[in-house]
Amino acid sequence: MSSYIKRITDGDTSWFDKARFGMFIHWGLYSMPARHEWVKCHERITEEKYDKYFEYFDPDLYNPKEWAKKAKEAGMKYAVMTTKHHEGFCMFDSQYTDYKCTNTKAGRDLIKEFVDAFRAEGIHIGFYYSLIDWHHPEFPLDCYHPRQDDDDAYEQNQGRDIKKYAEYMRNQVRELLTNYGKIDVIWFDYSYPEKNVPDKPWMKGKGKEDWEAEKLVEMVRSIQPDILINNRMGIPQDLFTPEQYQPTKWVSDKTTGELLTWEASQTFSGSWGYYRDEMTWKSDRMLIEMLINTVCIGGNLLMNVGPTSRGYFDNRANKALDAYAQWMKYNSRSIHNCTMAEPEFTAPRGCRLTQSSDGKRLYIHLMEYPYAYLEANGFAGKVDYAQFLHDGSEIKFNEGAVNHFSDGRTEGEDLVVFELPHVKPDAVVPVIELFLK
Ligand code: GLC
Repeated sequence: MSSYIKRITDGDTSWFDKARFGMFIHWGLYSMPARHEWVKCHERITEEKYDKYFEYFDPDLYNPKEWAKKAKEAGMKYAVMTTKHHEGFCMFDSQYTDYKCTNTKAGRDLIKEFVDAFRAEGIHIGFYYSLIDWHHPEFPLDCYHPRQDDDDAYEQNQGRDIKKYAEYMRNQVRELLTNYGKIDVIWFDYSYPEKNVPDKPWMKGKGKEDWEAEKLVEMVRSIQPDILINNRMGIPQDLFTPEQYQPTKWVSDKTTGELLTWEASQTFSGSWGYYRDEMTWKSDRMLIEMLINTVCIGGNLLMNVGPTSRGYFDNRANKALDAYAQWMKYNSRSIHNCTMAEPEFTAPRGCRLTQSSDGKRLYIHLMEYPYAYLEANGFAGKVDYAQFLHDGSEIKFNEGAVNHFSDGRTEGEDLVVFELPHVKPDAVVPVIELFLK
């Protein structure tokens, strides 16, 4: 059994700890301009212009069964989809707004189809819900609002009542958690209470008081007691969610040092929504490394796909997912149901370790492929059998010392030396599976 003890929270993290890998999906009207999901803010787009996207949104190629298949092949065990992003457009049928997909050419509840398709593949379901809303008439202007630079911004802001907006959110979240069966994760995004505008005191950053976060949490838990809630409402809940950043050690509470349940969210190319001209796509190798680097310090990776406005994953996204699928097909055993290796094991040079949660198997990920020998200090007496994970082929090993005809011998009572083929096997990152004594 893993000896790491995490902070216990209200939601059920047991499946989440086993899952380790999930799919984030950012899909909304912003997929049409295809130049970042923040485009409305970045380009200060007026309501009138943005309405064109509402008018012409037509996801005629949306087939979430294909998405779910892709996710499953990639080894993703849960998926979190945007039900509403900062633009305010709802991808689900809500009785509290007209600004929703059912009123576009889509003509149907896109979230419902997502839920059905992914659930059918045995994938856990998560909803992303934006706290920020650039469409809602009661949402006060602030430093992120697309209308912030308008000459009459002050006038536009008059009479906006965040309390009414908070109620709107509760109503919508209630719908989301009542109408789609069991929901495993709710991912609120995000708080920025410190972001005030110095010369415009009425443009205030927003945080937990504005969202009436406690009330919202209470309601969420009353409907779905096991659900996992992330931390971005401004009150710590189940999940800590560093974004586009890879921690280098297990995320812990700064004051108490307690280990936390955490999830790194990452993109294939820098933007979350579909970005046609974005060219900084990560290499297959980097994608695989990110997953290993996350799990080896006890975290989950939520990797994002931004579908096109017509509703499919473009070739670049499919290629990235295929990279995961190929690697995971043979190596998922070192990821699913694994966590950080016990402190008694130190990773050999150029390697990352994970360990099965029952403690019986240790996985050495060869991030740098060594020549002929891999020396593992502190492993002597602990290894019963070793093999490559991808093909189940034996890896011979010696304990204690090896003579390399060098001046001295590589010696150490604790040392295990694995004999590796000179040519790196055909895997982006080969993995050695150790059956421990
Ligand atoms: C953010 C961004 C955003 C994205 C998200 C994912 O804070 O505003 O567009 O949805 O984080 O982590």
